[in-house]
Parts: sequence; C-alpha cells; structure tokens
Amino acid sequence: MSAIEPTRALNDHALLAARYGESCGPASSELNEVLRCLFAHRSVRAYVQDPLPPGTLETLVAAAQSAATSSNMQFWSVIAVQDKERKAQMAQIANQQMHIVQAPLFLVWLADLSRLDRVAKARGHELEARDYLESFMVAAIDASLAAQNAVVAAESMGLATVYIGALRNDPERVAQLLELPPYVMPVFGLCVGYEDQAKLTSIKPRLPQSAVLFHERYVPQAEMEQVERYDETLSAFSRQNGMGNVNWTDRVFSRMGSIKGMSGRERMRAMVKALGFELR
Ligand SMILES: Cc1cc2nc3c(=O)[nH]c(=O)nc-3n(C[C@H](O)[C@H](O)[C@H](O)COP(=O)(O)O)c2cc1C
Repeated sequence: MSAIEPTRALNDHALLAARYGESCGPASSELNEVLRCLFAHRSVRAYVQDPLPPGTLETLVAAAQSAATSSNMQFWSVIAVQDKERKAQMAQIANQQMHIVQAPLFLVWLADLSRLDRVAKARGHELEARDYLESFMVAAIDASLAAQNAVVAAESMGLATVYIGALRNDPERVAQLLELPPYVMPVFGLCVGYEDQAKLTSIKPRLPQSAVLFHERYVPQAEMEQVERYDETLSAFSRQNGMGNVNWTDRVFSRMGSIKGMSGRERMRAMVKALGFELR
C-alpha cells in the first residue's frame, strides 16, 4: 500500500477508522453521501493553479447562505480574493502561507455588523445592541457557520480547502487592504482550489469520541490515558505525512503554552476594538 491512500478510495469503514486513527472507529450504519463527504474532510495546503469552473463561487456562497443564522440577521459577508497580488498580501499577513497564493480562490469571511449599521442610519433607527460583545459573537458565529457550509459544499464538488485563521495576526491590515468599513472583522480566510495530487495528505485523526461526548452531565473519564493514546496516534500521523514526530500535546502547548504562540493575537481585544466593535 502507498503511504497515503486517496480518501475517495476508502470504504465506509476505513473512512471512520481513519478519522479515529484506529483499526475500528465507532459503530456506524451504512454511510450516505453527505456523511462520506464529512468524514473524508482534510485541510489541504498544496494546490494546483487550475481555475474553478464558472459559477463555483456563487454555488459556494449559496451553500453559505443556506446555513442557519442567528434570528435570520445574517451578520456576515465574504470577500472573494482572486487577484494574485492581493492574495500575496494576505499570505504575508498569514506567516507566508503560500497555499493562499497557490489556490485560485481565497475567501475572507467577515463578521459584519456594518450592513445593519448602514440600514439603521438610513432608516433613523437606534442600534443600541450593536456595541455589545454578544452582537460580535453572533456575527462571528454566523460567519463561521456560513463558511463551514461553503467548505462542505466545496468538498462535495471535489474541491479542497483550508481555513486561514492566521489572517487574525493583523486584522487591521486586512481591513485596510480590503477596504473594510467599521464594524467588520475578518474572522478567517479560506483557500479553495484543486488539491495537488502529488502532495496528498491523509485524514487527520481526532480524539476518541469518549473524550468529547458526555451523557447528561460533564464527566470526563480516563482523560489522561485517552490523551496519551491520541498523542501516539498523532505522532504516527505526523510521521506518515512528513511532519516529523510531533504529537498532539506538543502542538497544542506550542500554541497555547505561551503568549509567543499567539503570533500577535494576544492584542485581539484592542484589534477588534480598532475595527469599531466596543465589546461591552
Ligand atoms: C478557524 C480555523 C483556522 C485555521 N487556520 C489555519 C491556518 O491559518 N493555517 C493552516 O494551515 N490551517 C489552519 N486551519 C486548519 C486546521 O489546522 C485543521 O483544521 C486542523 O489541523 C485539523 O486538520 P483537518 O482539517 O485536516 O482535519 C484552521 C482551522 C480552523 C477551523
């Protein structure tokens, strides 16, 4: 067997097993097409430059707009960036992640309270709730749900994606480059394109379900043993995918163990406020 099998070659059982890094994943009945697509998800960081078929962007946005949205307020927008120079500027903000430039389409997902602000001004309405943390959270959640619908849609169409949270290293610079009005926060970017078949990666296993699923009450069980076992699973995944021998806890603590791992995002409250959000 080659080191990495294309996910489309995996049968239902193998798909679930790959998700949990075990010979046997959780019990499943026959998978339908949607479940197969969800379980086969992988973030892709190597793209060929083939353009997307006409209409793809609009289909992705229709999928995004089909997501649930808090009270139908639709507090999100998205900017499709296809210009190479502008993608390079986005990549620069995101620690030079060159897949941003490689992918034909880069979507910047926005928590957007500015549309309602304009409507309120035009109609002479008060907008007292705008400046509260809750409203910012509603907008960020709306943007995230919309984006994830677009991801699933893209993957169902044979496209690959990867989120780019590193845009939040400098949201003010993103706002400047994309001419965002006040009350708009770039939540993350998303590369969309065709995967470079010469650089396939495998499905990244997750924690066992027993680590994340509780019944009725929050009662963690055998957590340390589960984490230890998952560390081994992720080390094996890292080795198989040419990412050294890094395990899960190493990775998480390098991100969360010190302020340095935040890449400037420790200033997020100030950065979000600079975009107009009061976060009361
Ligand atoms: C909000 C968010 C931001 C992310 N930002 C980045 C990023 O900046 N660069 C990157 O390579 N991957 C990024 N990812 C992808 C995650 O690293 C990836 O989803 C995770 O490692 C699990 O791997 P998988 O998606 O292949 O299953 C991000 C994912 C999410 C949900």
